[in-house]
Amino acid sequence: MYYDKLIFEISTKDRKGYSLPESTIKNYDLPDTLLRPDCPGLPEVSELDVVRHYTNVSFKNFGIEKGFYPLGSCTMKYNPKINQDIANLPGFANLHPYQPLDTVQGSLHVYYETQRMLSEISGLDTFTLNSYAGAHGELVGLMIMKAYHESRGDTKRTKVIVPDSAHGTNPASATVAGLESVEVKSNLDGTVNVNDLKHVLDDTIAGIMLTNPNTLGMFEKDILEIAKLVHQAGGLLYYDGANLNPLLGMVRPGDMGFDIMHINLHKTFSTPHGGGGPGSGPVGVTKALKPFLPKPVVKKEKDGYTLDGATDLTIGQISHFYGNMGVVIKAYTYLLTIGKNNLSDIAKFSTLNANYIKESLKDDYLLPFKGICKHEFVFDGLIDKSTHVTTLDVAKRLLDFDMHPPTVYFPLIVKEAIMIEPPENESKQTIDKFIEVMKQIAKEAKEDPDLVKGAPYNTVVKRLDEALAARKPVVKYKDLLDEA
Ligand SMILES: Cc1ncc(COP(=O)(O)O)c(C=O)c1O
Repeated sequence: MYYDKLIFEISTKDRKGYSLPESTIKNYDLPDTLLRPDCPGLPEVSELDVVRHYTNVSFKNFGIEKGFYPLGSCTMKYNPKINQDIANLPGFANLHPYQPLDTVQGSLHVYYETQRMLSEISGLDTFTLNSYAGAHGELVGLMIMKAYHESRGDTKRTKVIVPDSAHGTNPASATVAGLESVEVKSNLDGTVNVNDLKHVLDDTIAGIMLTNPNTLGMFEKDILEIAKLVHQAGGLLYYDGANLNPLLGMVRPGDMGFDIMHINLHKTFSTPHGGGGPGSGPVGVTKALKPFLPKPVVKKEKDGYTLDGATDLTIGQISHFYGNMGVVIKAYTYLLTIGKNNLSDIAKFSTLNANYIKESLKDDYLLPFKGICKHEFVFDGLIDKSTHVTTLDVAKRLLDFDMHPPTVYFPLIVKEAIMIEPPENESKQTIDKFIEVMKQIAKEAKEDPDLVKGAPYNTVVKRLDEALAARKPVVKYKDLLDEA
């Protein structure tokens, strides 16, 4: 049986978890239509029952606060508590989006200042904070790209170039934006093949989407030439900012020639990524593309901030109100606490950590792309393939050592991909421990491959039958009970 009791199952009649003072509000006669016929079916439990129940549930999960989380391309870094504390201040947390503007000037100031800081970091003219995630930012950016070409009567430009190492959201966003994606092959080191690129550039190309450093952690060294070629062909450059961490304070996408970009606040600027929590994917653009930004646009006027900055060329409204305010406040706090002069430490330490792990493990794991990487890199499984221990087996075995597995089998161009990303705030001790465990797994794979193939052993749920889980997923509690 791999479930524990639900809070409803430990409910005991008339047990209470609260003691409220006697109500001083008199009873009102309400019409029957407003009254529920029965009591709500809430669990009847004591405070201790509740605390123990949810504490035990939380132990079953793995998070950045429990252990090392080297999730490639996702920047699962620690989110300092002060960021959350500031976002929880009643003045922020209790705001209503329909409040009169003169009562939310402080929040609009935070919005405006965050936009300004992101512009300075990225080298782009201005930002909208309205989009909810990286993928959403991509869609908004591509809608802006499309609207720009259409506004000039250039309606032939219906294709977007996407390298074969790109994240799956890139071609997906292109399709949703009504553009066709055209794939270009990578060089052996994972960077864009400029010759291949030249062949696809013509007057039907709306632009190119690039992640720099790419999903293999390699910096696109030909970026200036790529930018020149794309611009000469009349296209625009879109920067997927998921991997911005190692560039902070070092180089800026705007200076590389990018016209549009998104930043994942929930990766680079410390809101934890994953688990379906709220995210934010601000989109930055050059001055020429500013008129196309989605509305509302926060504008600074003489007497304060307004939301009337949008022009007639706007792509319209792409979110409820103005995006995920809480995530923006956390990013703003993070940026202020780090400080402008220390920003580049993030880039330097995350790059150092990745290269240290890469060099320490390259005699056990196959390194397809040599050379200095940025914040992440990719192994192609174990060097010794004779053991038949796969990347999936290694990932599962890591769980037994209380470490979250890296991203596996992505990017698709590396068959047995293990993509490792140790963020800047991990200590040398933690990183050394990870290296030691990875080496031990490589040794086990040689000496006792079945041990690795059977992992994990110490987790709540053991090795799943992946095919069965995909074909017959148990997604309802009732089905789980029937199974048990
Ligand atoms: C390179 C890259 N681009 C885009 C995305 C999409 O970002 P989001 O998950 O915020 O939609 C990711 C997400 O993990 C990514 O790694």
